[in-house]
Amino acid sequence: MLLQSASSFIHEHYISVTLTSTLLVLLSQVYYEVFINPLGKYPGPKFAAASRIPQLYHTFKGDLLQWVTGLHVTYGDVVRVAPDELSYATGEAWKGIYGHAAAGKKVTEKDTRFYGPSFNGAPDIIRAKGPDHSRFRRNFSHAFSDRSLREQQSLICGYVDMLVDNLNRTIKENPKAKVNMVHMFNLTTFDIMGDLTFGDSLDLLLGTGNMNWVAAVFISMKTNALRRLARYWPWTASIAQRLIPQELRQQSVAHYQASQGRVDKRVDGDYALQKPDIWGIVMNQKQELRLSRTEMYANSQVFMVAGTETTATALSGLLYQLLMNPEKMEIIVNEVRETFEKDSDIEMRALEHMKYLNACIEEGLRIYPPVPVGLPRIAPDDGLLVCGEHIPGKTALSVNQWATYHSPKNFKRPDDFIPERWISDDFATDNKAAFQPFSFGPRNCLGKNLAYHELRVILAKVLYNFEFSLLPESIGWEKQKTFFLWEKNDLMVQLKARS
Ligand code: HEM
Repeated sequence: MLLQSASSFIHEHYISVTLTSTLLVLLSQVYYEVFINPLGKYPGPKFAAASRIPQLYHTFKGDLLQWVTGLHVTYGDVVRVAPDELSYATGEAWKGIYGHAAAGKKVTEKDTRFYGPSFNGAPDIIRAKGPDHSRFRRNFSHAFSDRSLREQQSLICGYVDMLVDNLNRTIKENPKAKVNMVHMFNLTTFDIMGDLTFGDSLDLLLGTGNMNWVAAVFISMKTNALRRLARYWPWTASIAQRLIPQELRQQSVAHYQASQGRVDKRVDGDYALQKPDIWGIVMNQKQELRLSRTEMYANSQVFMVAGTETTATALSGLLYQLLMNPEKMEIIVNEVRETFEKDSDIEMRALEHMKYLNACIEEGLRIYPPVPVGLPRIAPDDGLLVCGEHIPGKTALSVNQWATYHSPKNFKRPDDFIPERWISDDFATDNKAAFQPFSFGPRNCLGKNLAYHELRVILAKVLYNFEFSLLPESIGWEKQKTFFLWEKNDLMVQLKARS
């Protein structure tokens, strides 16, 4: 009896010592983060300075963007959003965080906790460091050069013509049909990118393709947000894994296998070297620059995410803004219809010079940037100079696009859709350098020129051919969650052939 109560006393004593020590460790960690860490001089909520819990909570909830923007409104241009992380809402920070390194200094690296590994673990252009990244960039930049884009003009226009035919068929069958333009833009950008990546159409606009291509992109964004939990706190790995439904995991595997199969078909096919698409160009490179097969699989996945959803998002956001601002819609429609006598005259070179259409595209990307959140980089060990201040090594840093573009310090009337700001002196005070929707520096978007070509052709062709009206259920469309990218609502319109 005496022995039993002694053992229970020791047991309870052991538990209370463990709990007290854990509490003390946690309290001293909080004390360090709030009062001793050199980042303590940056403003922000104390809870976020002490722990990453608020940031991850808002990441899973899908309102990280609103949370960070709110913090910038309350605390200013630089906010401490986690113990080791600062968010910026000022254009001057682009150069320091994402630009080329100053002489004798190292560049920032991508924060691997945010990005995670590629599906098959091989390096890809988004995640690779140093020499691998340079090899990928040198390889792929040929595929996105001006010359290649000119060669791809007929491919791009061909798919946009299919979009127009598809819409014409829909209204012929039912003039009152309700059309979801988010879906239609997705079909178009996925078909274009599928052809450039795999040398073959995905047949989505034809209606015979597998729609999982589109679903898989968003699934990967959402599951990556959950996996981030385990990357910040490795001890939560098994919980994070269990939070991802089995069905989503299976869909991701199926998507990877489909993309792998298509790469093999393209690379081993008879026409391997002739086609000027991405792999045709890569396989024509010198041996030492070429990619291994697993790197090809990993990079194909990048192209099918980076080059599809983003462009479709920009188009959806811009069409919504034009529908909400009929006076702007009238100007752009007149410009398109006066510039081109017939639909087949619409071509890339002429589109580059259209003043109002290009101003609308810029304004669309500003008011609704397709990559709205901050993409964190890690400061080198010896620190970094950002906006004239020394930032300690290993700090995670990012420019939050949404908060930057919606700040009245950077743009006059920031929440209004005003294409004129890009062409009129009335907005000379706008900080245009703050606007970097394709990111900045050596790791900016490789597909930027392709994206602009696609945006111009698709926009011009749909506005040339149709009159759109927004359905009441889509008013307020822009109120959306984000999981790295926007979780877009359906954009419901009715359309008729131009009069
Ligand atoms: C409106 C459309 C687009 C937007 C707003 C956009 C935006 C961006 C941004 C912000 C980044 C930086 C990512 C990071 O730092 O982690 C990026 C990188 C990249 N984008 Fe785009 N993108 C668009 C379209 C495209 C297209 C059509 C392609 C074609 C495949 C593409 C391919 C890439 C690639 C390969 C990278 C990685 C570049 C590198 O790390 O060297 N993007 N894009």
